[in-house]
Amino acid sequence: MSLLATHDLTVRFGGHVAVNGVTCAFQPGTLTAIVGPNGAGKTTYFNLISGQLKATGGRVTLDGHDLSGMPASERTRAGLGRAFQLTNLFPRLTVLENVRLAVQASGDGKHRRGLNLWSIWSDHRELIERAERILVTVGMSGKQGELVASLPHGDQRKLEVALLMALGSQVFMFDEPTAGMNAAEAPVILNLIRKLKEDPSKTILLVEHKMDVVRELADRIIVLHNGALVADGEPAEVIASPIVQEAYLGVSAQAASSQDGTPPQPGLPPRGGRSEDK
Ligand SMILES: Nc1ncnc2c1ncn2[C@@H]1O[C@H](COP(=O)(O)OP(=O)(O)O)[C@@H](O)[C@H]1O
Ligand SMILES: [Mg+2]
Repeated sequence: MSLLATHDLTVRFGGHVAVNGVTCAFQPGTLTAIVGPNGAGKTTYFNLISGQLKATGGRVTLDGHDLSGMPASERTRAGLGRAFQLTNLFPRLTVLENVRLAVQASGDGKHRRGLNLWSIWSDHRELIERAERILVTVGMSGKQGELVASLPHGDQRKLEVALLMALGSQVFMFDEPTAGMNAAEAPVILNLIRKLKEDPSKTILLVEHKMDVVRELADRIIVLHNGALVADGEPAEVIASPIVQEAYLGVSAQAASSQDGTPPQPGLPPRGGRSEDK
């Protein structure tokens, strides 16, 4: 069980405060959606939590342990899993070999105990069995012999989630996970997030601007605006609050409940060069 928390977390870029004193705790078994207009600081907040970016103030803790001084790789080892940031997919190895290596990397030295052939063989079996179970969980067991380089984009993303599982991540962070995915791939990733949610020991953070997705998946919504936390609560309550409707999400009540998932965002700056999701 891992409780992730940020305490007065802040980062300044020159004179601009991109994340401004955010104090928030994230419970295991809870999916928290992080919403807010483009440029609100959502990605920067993730970067500060995962260690891609160094805070200028405040702290990040996991189960009370201060991670603030750690580089991203150590935070990953501590249990923070930032999806789709992994650079350690091995394209020329198979799907199973990739997951097996991640399972092995998560080991605490147990799988490096000298030249006893019997224990090497049984460790190897155990690693492979764990990797196979994870591939069943993410629905990729039929592809375990395929080379990663030959996988479609959606499968590579599923595999990245499998690697986080294999590494023993307690916290899963998704920043607009379906951005850039085609209509067939997006539901696959959303299903995977639904599946992760079934595990009460996992803490899930999801940045998502599609309100129908947020409405369905979130147990809680927090709203960032100009780097500050401006709302936090039950999804229905936060979505319905006038402050979120009008000022922060920039959507009308009608649009927020529409089914197309891409509500208009009048009054917000353009979405900075990234193509709109389907
Ligand atoms: N490395 C950086 N240097 C300078 N400004 C940055 C940097 N990263 C983000 N910003 C600025 O911080 C603000 C928040 O950006 P971002 O976290 O990407 O917003 P969001 O993900 O909510 O759309 C924006 O004004 C952005 O231009
Ligand atoms: Mg962003």
